[in-house]
Amino acid sequence: MPKQHVQAKVVQHIAYNEDVRAITLFAPSLVRDSQPGQFIHVRVTEQYHPLLRRPISICDIDHEQQTMTLVYRIIGEGTRLLAAVEPGGLLDCMGPLGNGFILQGNRPLLVGGGMGVAPLVYLARMLCPQPVEVLLGARSKQEMFWPELFAAVCKNIHITTDDGSLGTRGNTIDVLPQLIQTGNYDMIYTCGPNPMMRGVVEQAQKYDIPCQISLEKHMACGVGACLSCTCGASDGKRRKVCTDGPVFWAGEVTEW
Ligand SMILES: Cc1cc2nc3c(=O)[nH]c(=O)nc-3n(C[C@H](O)[C@H](O)[C@H](O)COP(=O)(O)OP(=O)(O)OC[C@H]3O[C@@H](n4cnc5c(N)ncnc54)[C@H](O)[C@@H]3O)c2cc1C
Ligand code: FES
Repeated sequence: MPKQHVQAKVVQHIAYNEDVRAITLFAPSLVRDSQPGQFIHVRVTEQYHPLLRRPISICDIDHEQQTMTLVYRIIGEGTRLLAAVEPGGLLDCMGPLGNGFILQGNRPLLVGGGMGVAPLVYLARMLCPQPVEVLLGARSKQEMFWPELFAAVCKNIHITTDDGSLGTRGNTIDVLPQLIQTGNYDMIYTCGPNPMMRGVVEQAQKYDIPCQISLEKHMACGVGACLSCTCGASDGKRRKVCTDGPVFWAGEVTEW
Protein backbone atom coordinates (compact mmCIF):
# COMPACT_ATOMS: atom_id res chain seq x y z
CA MET A 1 0.00 0.00 0.00
CA PRO A 2 1.57 3.38 -0.97
CA LYS A 3 2.46 5.66 1.91
CA GLN A 4 0.55 8.88 2.24
CA HIS A 5 1.37 12.33 3.47
CA VAL A 6 -1.70 13.61 5.27
CA GLN A 7 -2.66 16.64 7.36
CA ALA A 8 -4.89 14.86 9.86
CA LYS A 9 -7.35 16.76 12.00
CA VAL A 10 -6.92 16.23 15.74
CA VAL A 11 -10.35 15.42 17.16
CA GLN A 12 -9.31 14.43 20.68
CA HIS A 13 -6.14 14.55 22.77
CA ILE A 14 -6.41 13.12 26.26
CA ALA A 15 -4.14 12.10 29.13
CA TYR A 16 -4.15 8.52 30.48
CA ASN A 17 -1.71 9.41 33.24
CA GLU A 18 1.07 11.91 33.96
CA ASP A 19 3.09 11.13 30.85
CA VAL A 20 0.93 9.07 28.49
CA ARG A 21 -1.37 10.69 25.94
CA ALA A 22 -3.85 9.42 23.34
CA ILE A 23 -4.29 11.53 20.24
CA THR A 24 -7.21 10.76 17.93
CA LEU A 25 -7.03 11.86 14.32
CA PHE A 26 -9.70 12.18 11.65
CA ALA A 27 -7.83 10.61 8.73
CA PRO A 28 -10.10 8.68 6.32
CA SER A 29 -7.41 7.63 3.86
CA LEU A 30 -5.00 6.45 6.59
CA VAL A 31 -7.85 4.60 8.28
CA ARG A 32 -8.74 2.90 5.01
CA ASP A 33 -5.21 1.71 4.22
CA SER A 34 -3.68 0.85 7.62
CA GLN A 35 -2.96 -2.66 8.93
CA PRO A 36 -2.36 -3.66 12.56
CA GLY A 37 1.31 -3.28 13.47
CA GLN A 38 2.03 -0.44 11.05
CA PHE A 39 3.12 2.96 12.26
CA ILE A 40 2.72 6.65 11.51
CA HIS A 41 5.72 8.95 11.15
CA VAL A 42 4.61 12.17 12.81
CA ARG A 43 5.99 15.64 12.29
CA VAL A 44 5.53 17.08 15.76
CA THR A 45 5.94 20.77 14.89
CA GLU A 46 5.70 23.08 11.91
CA GLN A 47 9.14 24.49 12.81
CA TYR A 48 12.37 22.98 11.44
CA HIS A 49 13.46 21.80 14.88
CA PRO A 50 13.24 18.98 15.63
CA LEU A 51 13.69 18.07 12.02
CA LEU A 52 13.03 14.36 12.29
CA ARG A 53 9.60 12.83 12.46
CA ARG A 54 8.69 10.54 15.36
CA PRO A 55 7.42 6.97 14.73
CA ILE A 56 4.26 6.06 16.65
CA SER A 57 2.30 2.81 16.29
CA ILE A 58 -1.28 2.76 15.16
CA CYS A 59 -2.99 1.87 18.42
CA ASP A 60 -6.58 1.70 17.28
CA ILE A 61 -8.90 2.57 14.43
CA ASP A 62 -12.59 3.43 14.41
CA HIS A 63 -13.73 2.64 10.89
CA GLU A 64 -17.15 4.18 11.41
CA GLN A 65 -15.79 7.52 12.63
CA GLN A 66 -12.81 7.27 10.25
CA THR A 67 -10.47 8.03 13.11
CA MET A 68 -7.15 6.63 14.22
CA THR A 69 -5.72 6.78 17.76
CA LEU A 70 -2.04 6.91 18.65
CA VAL A 71 -1.02 6.36 22.28
CA TYR A 72 2.39 7.67 23.27
CA ARG A 73 4.59 8.36 26.25
CA ILE A 74 6.17 11.79 26.63
CA ILE A 75 9.89 11.03 26.90
CA GLY A 76 11.75 13.81 25.12
CA GLU A 77 11.50 16.95 23.04
CA GLY A 78 9.48 15.48 20.18
CA THR A 79 6.78 13.86 22.25
CA ARG A 80 6.63 16.95 24.49
CA LEU A 81 5.86 19.07 21.43
CA LEU A 82 3.32 16.50 20.26
CA ALA A 83 1.57 16.72 23.62
CA ALA A 84 1.02 20.44 23.01
CA VAL A 85 -1.02 19.89 19.83
CA GLU A 86 -4.60 20.88 20.51
CA PRO A 87 -7.89 19.42 19.27
CA GLY A 88 -8.99 21.23 16.13
CA GLY A 89 -5.40 21.50 14.92
CA LEU A 90 -3.71 19.53 12.15
CA LEU A 91 -1.01 16.90 12.51
CA ASP A 92 1.41 16.20 9.67
CA CYS A 93 1.41 12.41 9.26
CA MET A 94 3.29 10.10 6.92
CA GLY A 95 1.98 6.58 6.73
CA PRO A 96 0.92 3.93 7.09
CA LEU A 97 4.54 2.74 7.24
CA GLY A 98 6.18 -0.65 7.65
CA ASN A 99 4.91 -4.20 7.51
CA GLY A 100 2.36 -5.09 10.15
CA PHE A 101 1.25 -8.36 11.74
CA ILE A 102 0.20 -11.30 9.60
CA LEU A 103 -3.20 -12.45 10.83
CA GLN A 104 -3.06 -16.22 11.00
CA GLY A 105 -4.20 -19.05 13.29
CA ASN A 106 -7.35 -19.58 15.34
CA ARG A 107 -6.15 -19.25 18.96
CA PRO A 108 -4.01 -16.12 19.22
CA LEU A 109 -2.26 -14.88 22.34
CA LEU A 110 -1.13 -11.24 22.39
CA VAL A 111 1.65 -10.35 24.85
CA GLY A 112 2.44 -6.68 25.44
CA GLY A 113 4.60 -4.77 27.88
CA GLY A 114 4.81 -1.04 28.60
CA MET A 115 4.05 1.16 25.57
CA GLY A 116 4.53 -1.94 23.43
CA VAL A 117 0.91 -2.76 24.11
CA ALA A 118 -0.12 0.04 21.72
CA PRO A 119 -0.11 -1.85 18.38
CA LEU A 120 -1.85 -4.86 19.93
CA VAL A 121 -5.16 -3.03 20.44
CA TYR A 122 -5.94 -2.68 16.73
CA LEU A 123 -4.55 -6.17 16.16
CA ALA A 124 -7.05 -7.56 18.69
CA ARG A 125 -9.85 -5.64 16.97
CA MET A 126 -8.92 -7.09 13.57
CA LEU A 127 -8.59 -10.63 14.95
CA CYS A 128 -12.16 -10.52 16.27
CA PRO A 129 -14.42 -12.49 16.31
CA GLN A 130 -11.69 -15.02 17.07
CA PRO A 131 -11.33 -15.65 20.82
CA VAL A 132 -8.44 -13.28 21.45
CA GLU A 133 -6.49 -13.61 24.70
CA VAL A 134 -4.20 -10.85 25.92
CA LEU A 135 -1.39 -10.78 28.48
CA LEU A 136 -0.40 -7.27 29.54
CA GLY A 137 2.47 -6.15 31.74
CA ALA A 138 3.22 -2.79 33.32
CA ARG A 139 5.21 -1.36 36.20
CA SER A 140 2.13 -0.41 38.23
CA LYS A 141 -1.63 0.13 38.20
CA GLN A 142 -1.14 3.77 37.07
CA GLU A 143 0.42 2.47 33.86
CA MET A 144 -2.22 -0.18 33.28
CA PHE A 145 -4.82 1.89 31.43
CA TRP A 146 -4.90 -0.59 28.54
CA PRO A 147 -7.74 -2.95 29.61
CA GLU A 148 -10.44 -0.38 28.77
CA LEU A 149 -9.00 -0.12 25.24
CA PHE A 150 -9.31 -3.88 24.80
CA ALA A 151 -12.71 -4.12 26.51
CA ALA A 152 -14.81 -4.01 23.34
CA VAL A 153 -12.79 -6.62 21.49
CA CYS A 154 -11.45 -9.02 24.07
CA LYS A 155 -12.89 -10.56 27.23
CA ASN A 156 -9.88 -12.55 28.29
CA ILE A 157 -7.26 -10.17 29.64
CA HIS A 158 -4.43 -11.24 31.98
CA ILE A 159 -2.54 -8.54 33.83
CA THR A 160 0.80 -8.39 35.60
CA THR A 161 2.34 -5.43 37.40
CA ASP A 162 5.86 -5.29 38.79
CA ASP A 163 4.63 -3.93 42.13
CA GLY A 164 1.53 -6.12 42.37
CA SER A 165 -0.83 -3.10 42.45
CA LEU A 166 -3.00 -4.78 39.78
CA GLY A 167 -3.25 -8.38 38.59
CA THR A 168 -0.44 -10.82 39.29
CA ARG A 169 2.72 -9.45 40.90
CA GLY A 170 5.67 -9.91 38.57
CA ASN A 171 6.06 -9.73 34.82
CA THR A 172 4.46 -11.32 31.79
CA ILE A 173 7.17 -14.00 31.54
CA ASP A 174 6.34 -15.19 35.06
CA VAL A 175 2.82 -16.19 34.00
CA LEU A 176 3.37 -17.01 30.32
CA PRO A 177 4.42 -20.68 30.70
CA GLN A 178 1.25 -21.55 32.60
CA LEU A 179 -0.94 -19.71 30.08
CA ILE A 180 0.73 -21.50 27.19
CA GLN A 181 0.31 -24.90 28.83
CA THR A 182 -3.45 -24.40 29.20
CA GLY A 183 -4.31 -22.06 26.33
CA ASN A 184 -3.81 -24.20 23.23
CA TYR A 185 -2.54 -21.14 21.30
CA ASP A 186 -1.47 -21.46 17.70
CA MET A 187 0.01 -17.95 17.29
CA ILE A 188 1.72 -15.50 19.64
CA TYR A 189 2.07 -11.81 18.80
CA THR A 190 4.29 -9.69 21.02
CA CYS A 191 5.50 -6.12 21.40
CA GLY A 192 7.31 -4.52 24.31
CA PRO A 193 10.74 -4.20 25.90
CA ASN A 194 13.35 -6.42 24.26
CA PRO A 195 14.04 -8.58 27.36
CA MET A 196 10.32 -9.32 27.60
CA MET A 197 10.07 -10.21 23.91
CA ARG A 198 13.13 -12.47 24.20
CA GLY A 199 11.37 -14.31 27.02
CA VAL A 200 8.21 -14.62 24.92
CA VAL A 201 10.17 -15.94 21.93
CA GLU A 202 11.95 -18.47 24.15
CA GLN A 203 8.64 -19.81 25.46
CA ALA A 204 7.05 -19.81 22.00
CA GLN A 205 9.96 -21.81 20.61
CA LYS A 206 9.91 -24.20 23.57
CA TYR A 207 6.25 -25.01 22.89
CA ASP A 208 6.63 -24.80 19.11
CA ILE A 209 4.17 -21.94 18.62
CA PRO A 210 4.74 -19.48 15.75
CA CYS A 211 5.52 -16.03 17.05
CA GLN A 212 5.58 -12.53 15.54
CA ILE A 213 7.52 -9.75 17.24
CA SER A 214 7.30 -6.01 16.71
CA LEU A 215 10.67 -4.26 17.04
CA GLU A 216 11.43 -0.71 18.01
CA LYS A 217 14.63 0.95 16.79
CA HIS A 218 15.65 4.58 16.65
CA MET A 219 14.47 5.82 13.29
CA ALA A 220 15.27 8.82 11.14
CA CYS A 221 13.72 8.61 7.66
CA GLY A 222 11.20 5.84 8.38
CA VAL A 223 11.16 4.84 4.71
CA GLY A 224 14.25 2.70 4.19
CA ALA A 225 16.70 5.38 3.03
CA CYS A 226 19.02 6.16 5.95
CA LEU A 227 19.84 2.70 7.43
CA SER A 228 19.62 4.01 11.00
CA CYS A 229 17.19 1.28 12.04
CA THR A 230 18.82 -1.94 10.84
CA CYS A 231 19.13 -5.19 12.76
CA GLY A 232 20.79 -8.54 12.06
CA ALA A 233 18.86 -11.41 10.52
CA SER A 234 19.30 -15.18 10.64
CA ASP A 235 20.34 -15.30 6.95
CA GLY A 236 23.38 -13.16 7.82
CA LYS A 237 21.96 -10.09 6.08
CA ARG A 238 20.51 -7.00 7.72
CA ARG A 239 16.88 -5.91 7.90
CA LYS A 240 15.49 -2.38 8.07
CA VAL A 241 13.00 -2.21 10.90
CA CYS A 242 11.12 0.65 9.22
CA THR A 243 10.43 -1.09 5.92
CA ASP A 244 11.11 -4.82 6.43
CA GLY A 245 9.43 -4.62 9.87
CA PRO A 246 8.62 -3.44 12.41
CA VAL A 247 6.93 -6.87 12.64
CA PHE A 248 9.10 -9.94 12.01
CA TRP A 249 8.77 -13.66 12.53
CA ALA A 250 10.62 -14.57 15.71
CA GLY A 251 13.30 -16.63 13.94
CA GLU A 252 13.95 -14.08 11.22
CA VAL A 253 15.86 -11.49 13.24
CA THR A 254 18.71 -12.31 15.58
CA GLU A 255 20.17 -9.06 16.81
CA TRP A 256 17.71 -6.89 18.69
C1 LIG B 1 7.92 1.49 14.88
C2 LIG B 1 7.87 2.29 16.17
C3 LIG B 1 6.65 2.44 16.81
C4 LIG B 1 6.59 3.17 18.00
N1 LIG B 1 5.37 3.28 18.62
C5 LIG B 1 5.28 3.97 19.76
C6 LIG B 1 4.02 4.10 20.41
O1 LIG B 1 2.98 3.61 19.95
N2 LIG B 1 3.98 4.80 21.57
C7 LIG B 1 5.12 5.36 22.13
O2 LIG B 1 5.04 5.97 23.20
N3 LIG B 1 6.32 5.26 21.52
C8 LIG B 1 6.43 4.58 20.36
N4 LIG B 1 7.64 4.47 19.74
C9 LIG B 1 8.80 5.16 20.35
C10 LIG B 1 8.75 6.63 19.95
O3 LIG B 1 9.04 6.75 18.58
C11 LIG B 1 9.77 7.43 20.76
O4 LIG B 1 9.41 7.38 22.11
C12 LIG B 1 9.82 8.87 20.29
O5 LIG B 1 10.34 8.94 18.99
C13 LIG B 1 10.65 9.69 21.22
O6 LIG B 1 10.79 10.99 20.70
P1 LIG B 1 11.23 12.20 21.61
O7 LIG B 1 11.65 13.30 20.73
O8 LIG B 1 10.16 12.54 22.60
O9 LIG B 1 12.43 11.63 22.45
P2 LIG B 1 13.98 11.82 22.23
O10 LIG B 1 14.66 10.79 23.06
O11 LIG B 1 14.33 13.25 22.44
O12 LIG B 1 14.18 11.46 20.70
C14 LIG B 1 15.38 11.73 20.03
C15 LIG B 1 15.44 10.88 18.78
O13 LIG B 1 15.47 9.49 19.10
C16 LIG B 1 14.37 8.82 18.52
N5 LIG B 1 13.85 7.91 19.52
C17 LIG B 1 13.90 8.07 20.87
N6 LIG B 1 13.37 6.98 21.49
C18 LIG B 1 13.00 6.13 20.51
C19 LIG B 1 12.42 4.85 20.51
N7 LIG B 1 12.12 4.20 21.64
N8 LIG B 1 12.16 4.28 19.32
C20 LIG B 1 12.47 4.91 18.17
N9 LIG B 1 13.04 6.12 18.10
C21 LIG B 1 13.30 6.72 19.26
C22 LIG B 1 13.37 9.89 18.19
O14 LIG B 1 12.50 9.52 17.11
C23 LIG B 1 14.27 11.04 17.83
O15 LIG B 1 14.72 10.92 16.52
C24 LIG B 1 7.76 3.75 18.56
C25 LIG B 1 8.98 3.58 17.92
C26 LIG B 1 9.04 2.86 16.74
C27 LIG B 1 10.35 2.67 16.06
S1 FES C 1 14.67 4.78 9.54
FE1 FES C 1 15.80 5.24 7.75
S2 FES C 1 16.16 3.24 6.93
FE2 FES C 1 14.85 2.85 8.63
